[in-house]
Amino acid sequence: MRTQVGIVGAGPAGLMLSHLLHLRGVESVVIDLRTREDIEETIKAGVLEQGTVDLMTRTGVGDRMARDGFVHHGINLAFNGELHRINMYELTGGRAVTVYAQHEVLKDLIAKRLADGGDLRFGISDTAVDGITGGDSPTIRFTADGEQQTLECDFVVGADGSRTYTRGLIPQRTDFFRQYPFAWFGILAEAPPSSDELIYAHSERGFALISTRSPSVQRLYFQCDPETNVDDWSDAQIWEEIQARVAGAGATLKTGTIFQKSVLQFRSFVCEPMQYGRLYLAGDAAHTVPPTGAKGLNLAVADVHVLDRALGAFYEAKDTGLLESYTQTALGRVWRAQWFSFWMTSMLHRFSDASDFDLRRQVAELELVTSSPTAAKTLADNYTGLPLG
Ligand code: DHB
Repeated sequence: MRTQVGIVGAGPAGLMLSHLLHLRGVESVVIDLRTREDIEETIKAGVLEQGTVDLMTRTGVGDRMARDGFVHHGINLAFNGELHRINMYELTGGRAVTVYAQHEVLKDLIAKRLADGGDLRFGISDTAVDGITGGDSPTIRFTADGEQQTLECDFVVGADGSRTYTRGLIPQRTDFFRQYPFAWFGILAEAPPSSDELIYAHSERGFALISTRSPSVQRLYFQCDPETNVDDWSDAQIWEEIQARVAGAGATLKTGTIFQKSVLQFRSFVCEPMQYGRLYLAGDAAHTVPPTGAKGLNLAVADVHVLDRALGAFYEAKDTGLLESYTQTALGRVWRAQWFSFWMTSMLHRFSDASDFDLRRQVAELELVTSSPTAAKTLADNYTGLPLG
């Protein structure tokens, strides 16, 4: 079996790349260990930057998002007994975010690839990539339906998420890493929205975030210990805890039945370089951000936007310049998002060794961000996302 670009991983990076390449007439095959159902049902974040929304719309995968997603022009920061709105739309000259769940984006991309005749292999096993530096084509071997397959390609893209196999194929790399002493407890609940726009809450009890999914399903998070077992928390305790963290700022939760609970780990990670021979990494395979600020999916999309153009220049004009500079181009945005996610995390969370000094300092920073138009614009520009270019 032969294709032009072999893509390991059917998450946001792999599927979006396959879609973009198809639009320019470049063939790809996407393989994934997970089943299609698994991919389409795993709950992840749900905030799309303006650039992600524009790309989806422009390339014909934005219909359901336009119908079912929610455009938010602002966010709220809750601290020191008050709610402060950041008018992102005004501060950025018309940029916003759209709340639309990641697994819905994946459903749309999978449906579109299949409608366009795309080759997606789910539920495969035993992936092995060879020949990324040799003179011959690289190959991806895998097992599908009990049979061994060999896929020859010109390039391999490692888009296989944070538990990546492909990253390990880059022998000389630097892994930049930061661990955090907390996690998020995330819930999905059948309840009406508690707020028109997201609330990021700083409190002495720790961080809480009120997000949404639809008029009848809400997404909420609160800072917790990484060792937390979700089953140790009753629904009543969860609502009480989140309510206690936003109460000071005057927000009143509309509670309901909790139907999904999980703990999200916090890590900052970057692998440099993001390429080796004919292998290119994209998305979480190359970098992970803590969830505060919702940059993960958007960074994956930004990576493949760069990679699509670079592969396009190769196939259209035999020009390898953009491929050679892929890491350098992608890393600018990756490190900006690392900074932004770290900044939002450190401004809003309670660190276990935090003193009263630290709490006051955080409040001073939040006051700066909500009262200085320059500081607010920095937050708004980065939250809604830099243009994809
Ligand atoms: C959501 C997740 C985030 O990490 C965030 O910063 C905002 C919203 C969400 O899942 O809705």
